[in-house]
Amino acid sequence: MTARILDGLKIRDEIFAELKDEVRLLTSAGVQPGLAAVLVGDNSASQLYVKSKIAACEQLGLASALLTPPASVTTLEMLAIVEDLNRDNNVDGILVQLPLPPQVDAKRILEAVDPAKDVDGFHPVSLGRLVSGRPGLVACTPAGCMEILRRSNIPIEGANAVVLGRSDIVGKPMALLLMHANATVTICHSKTRDLPDIVRRADIAVAAMGKAGFVQADWVKPGATVIDVGTNTIKDPSEAERLLRNFPARLEKFRTKGSVLIGDVHPDAVNTAGAITPVPGGVGPMTITMLMSNTVKAARLRRASPRVSATQSTASAR
Ligand code: GUN
Repeated sequence: MTARILDGLKIRDEIFAELKDEVRLLTSAGVQPGLAAVLVGDNSASQLYVKSKIAACEQLGLASALLTPPASVTTLEMLAIVEDLNRDNNVDGILVQLPLPPQVDAKRILEAVDPAKDVDGFHPVSLGRLVSGRPGLVACTPAGCMEILRRSNIPIEGANAVVLGRSDIVGKPMALLLMHANATVTICHSKTRDLPDIVRRADIAVAAMGKAGFVQADWVKPGATVIDVGTNTIKDPSEAERLLRNFPARLEKFRTKGSVLIGDVHPDAVNTAGAITPVPGGVGPMTITMLMSNTVKAARLRRASPRVSATQSTASAR
């Protein structure tokens, strides 16, 4: 039997519909949520991501601003940009697109973002709130994985969850979110011993280590839920043939296009899992969705908060 497909595009549409209503309500109360994106240099992947983020803002009725400092920007110049955005009351969310050029101290920039506007969830204060189970802004990709699980009615409480990958952006926050939802969590990484056996115990497996087709179909417990965070572009024909030998239509498409997107889970796992996120169209669309959700949440929390004084609001009104 093949797995139930957890459709990220459908879940995105559901959340977008909810967000649209909330944005309409906030805007009619005089608070139009706004996102500011800082895109440095001319990295084409980053340009594409940021363009999609701005388009999502427009679709939902959020205000957006795009700042594009040159690739030669210094740490001090970036700090000044972030400080300006921190002070601007119309900006609810600040997104500094990564990677930053090597001369810029990325950690320092991310730490300069006002935690109340940290819609990427990368600030140490946001991470600290997550660790201690306090409400706050959570990194978008792991938050999106949780939305997929919840909205698909996958039981989490008491489940054995295995997270593959320990990055600050996905693996670590994902493990914390699952733990707070009362799963029993195991975190695996490149030095983990007996990985296949550990994955075989998982009721929920989250693959986020950035290796194409790494999790084999026979590592997946029959009926388990698999969340595949990986997005790897494969261009090598022999690798594509190895991964897609049981998917002739996808292989044919690869031959026409010259590349294919493959997750961290082998495509054959669709025959062992009970439910699985496809790549593309699973976790991918959820990242931008949760960025929008975080921006609306930040607007709601910050602008309803007494920390924003009347003088501040007036001073930055344009
Ligand atoms: N670069 C790749 N993914 C991301 C992301 O989610 N946020 C930011 N800011 N930069 C990225």
